[in-house]
Amino acid sequence: MTEKTYLGFDLGTSGLRGLLVTADDTPIASFEAHYDTAQPHKGWSEQNPTDWIIACQAVARGLRDAAPQAWANIAGIGVSGHMHGAVLMDNAGQVVRPCILWNDTRSHAEAAALDAADQVRALSGNIVFPGFTAPKLMWVAKHEPDNFAKVAKVVLPAAFLNHWLTGDYVADMSDSAGTSWLDVGARDWSDKLLDAGGMRQDQMPRLVEGSQSAGTLRTDLARDWALTDTVHIAGGAGDNAAAACGAGVMKEGQGFISLGTSGVLLAARDRYKPDPATAVHTFCHAVPNRWYQMGVILAATDCLNWLSAVTQTAPAELTAELGDTLAAPGTLQFLPYLSGERTPHNDSQIRGSFIGLHASTTRADMTRAVLEGVAYALRDCFEALKSTGVDLTHVLALGGGTKSRLWVEMVATTLNLPLILPKSGDFGAALGAARLARCAATGCDPEAAMTAPAAEETIRPNADLVPAFDAAYHRYTRLYPAMKALL
Ligand code: XUL
Repeated sequence: MTEKTYLGFDLGTSGLRGLLVTADDTPIASFEAHYDTAQPHKGWSEQNPTDWIIACQAVARGLRDAAPQAWANIAGIGVSGHMHGAVLMDNAGQVVRPCILWNDTRSHAEAAALDAADQVRALSGNIVFPGFTAPKLMWVAKHEPDNFAKVAKVVLPAAFLNHWLTGDYVADMSDSAGTSWLDVGARDWSDKLLDAGGMRQDQMPRLVEGSQSAGTLRTDLARDWALTDTVHIAGGAGDNAAAACGAGVMKEGQGFISLGTSGVLLAARDRYKPDPATAVHTFCHAVPNRWYQMGVILAATDCLNWLSAVTQTAPAELTAELGDTLAAPGTLQFLPYLSGERTPHNDSQIRGSFIGLHASTTRADMTRAVLEGVAYALRDCFEALKSTGVDLTHVLALGGGTKSRLWVEMVATTLNLPLILPKSGDFGAALGAARLARCAATGCDPEAAMTAPAAEETIRPNADLVPAFDAAYHRYTRLYPAMKALL
């Protein structure tokens, strides 16, 4: 008997990665292709969905060349996508304009108006952030009425790939929860929310759970890809839910912190308990009857990358200057709001700053302030999550920033929360998507499929420094209102 394999696509902001695994999650091959993001105006961020298809074809070719036998045995495909992006499709299934991405803030006025509208927070469970999908469509209606008139369907990036793979318009709950059109508690499109955003039910894709089958691979594409057996396409997931599936973060008490381009502190929830006023996001999980809550900061490693570009020094070189031993927090402080902030401020206009520069301030002091500023911003997320009833005793630490052990210890100390570094391996959004594919193809129990990675090391808070980091965090929390008053 040939062993079936499963393919996860992770459609990320900078590129698309494919990961081919066995039924017990052993990686067989992985391949990545990149695409560009256009910033035609300040605050705008767009991608051409056709580039995602080109990337997907390149990844399929790469995987097929690397592992032809495993490729031929694919039984399921799942897609994880960057969230909130609006892909507008006309009646003929053509893309109307470039996709407006999650980090595009042009529609902040529309977001504020929708956020203030009756019942919008109550039904969507969230603040309408400028990056979310509904305000983008309101912006298009106002500024590009010809394009708006052509909109037959709106899909998110993952559902766009689902459409390309299956020929059907199908979206999963976890991604759809970030549109501000979904009743996140009821897991269904809300007529009231659609109406508030000037949209209609018939413009929405059909909804499925991420672990359910959304359909099967189009016969012409299956032929091009030389796949002869039926291939199920899973509902898929937004990238954070997919990452949670890859990391086995499924139920109450489980969570992860991600030090990626942006920063995320995510907790799985057994019940729907939104609290929009905290600026915590409350979304459906990619499996039935579960939700998750997360605090999102828009710049985490992005802050270090910014300092790296300004100082023309690689991030690893900058962090190496701090040595291996965590020191008490410095007096220089850094507000990491380079791209505005979501949790807890919901402020797309705020910007970053250094506070307390001295004639003797060194590059290393600035690096330390940047790392600390990100740690304090994540503590803000932790406090916001705690106020919604989240109770975490430890979380996994994921993302590129965890390469700096010092940074991980700093975050653990600032949050007073042990952080678990997983053994190296694949446990990100692509694995989550491949696991969803296996659930969709075999009907296996999603909760049993989503196991946690083996731990490499637990980084505990540095008990001697917890009080100093706590005091520095409280100084930090006074800076946002002060800067806000100046800008
Ligand atoms: C979540 C969010 C980002 C994007 C891009 O709300 O906007 O995490 O999904 O990764």
